[in-house]
Amino acid sequence: MQLRGAVAVVTGASAGIGEVTAAALAREGAKVVLAARRLDRLEQVADAIENRGGIALAVRCDVADRDQVETLPTVVKEAFGRCDVLVNNAGIPGGGPFSDLDMDAIERIVRVNLLGVMLCTKAFLPMMLKQHRGHIVNIASLAGRFAAPGASVYSASKHGVVAFSESLSYELDGTGLLVTSVNPAFAATEGFPQTRLPPRIVMKAGRVAGAIVHVLKRDIAPEYSVPRWISPFQAFRILTPPLYRWGMRTVVKRARATRG
Ligand SMILES: NC(=O)c1ccc[n+]([C@@H]2O[C@H](COP(=O)([O-])OP(=O)(O)OC[C@H]3O[C@@H](n4cnc5c(N)ncnc54)[C@H](OP(=O)(O)O)[C@@H]3O)[C@@H](O)[C@H]2O)c1
Repeated sequence: MQLRGAVAVVTGASAGIGEVTAAALAREGAKVVLAARRLDRLEQVADAIENRGGIALAVRCDVADRDQVETLPTVVKEAFGRCDVLVNNAGIPGGGPFSDLDMDAIERIVRVNLLGVMLCTKAFLPMMLKQHRGHIVNIASLAGRFAAPGASVYSASKHGVVAFSESLSYELDGTGLLVTSVNPAFAATEGFPQTRLPPRIVMKAGRVAGAIVHVLKRDIAPEYSVPRWISPFQAFRILTPPLYRWGMRTVVKRARATRG
């Protein structure tokens, strides 16, 4: 994909990975549409992009709200005429043991992290299909490949995003559209401060943004992990499930013992 002159929509662009991804895409010459709930923050991000010579439009949109999502493609079409890249990045954490989460919290996590990706994709797909060109990048997670304890609902939502992306990528073969799930490990952001992890394994959000730009420029689909070690590590889970589960239980026991 040639990003110069392309139109890219980034959800969850008011902070973290989405914010730096929007800035990185603008640096590559894309016109960016920034979507999230906090319009004031989006406008600050858009101003910063425009001050550096880029083109950006801030649009308030809650990805869990069907009406708001369904009007977004019209706004994008009126402003820029097309949509070449959709980065479904908006997401919320959902930590905590399942028994501690109430049904409202569970529904919210699934609605934003999984249904939000489907709603945005459904909204932009007709326009992208008509263009016979486009790339949908869904930000899943390491938790979309490995089911971690204490994150059952988050993990389920992200496994859903990985499965949705792969399935849709096969469905769209031959249409000129690509679909990719990008699976980041740990990046320190507003919603995911990662303060309990050893700093050496925590990335800057910019590293994930760099991976997203790489995926777009190289037409990589249907999956890309950042850092890259996550991909081969999956073989361990698939080829030796009992050993993998023993390893997971051991890590969890040690973590609990350390925390007391
Ligand atoms: N950081 C990590 O370690 C990590 C690892 C793996 C995957 N991820 C995934 O990466 C994505 C970005 O996370 P982040 O780390 O950058 O978190 P973040 O800094 O908390 O940013 C989350 C973004 O999503 C937006 N958002 C939340 N709910 C929304 C909604 N209902 N509608 C529209 N926008 C919404 C937020 O903006 P508003 O509040 O303004 O709406 C914000 O811009 C998420 O999907 C997350 O699951 C993160």
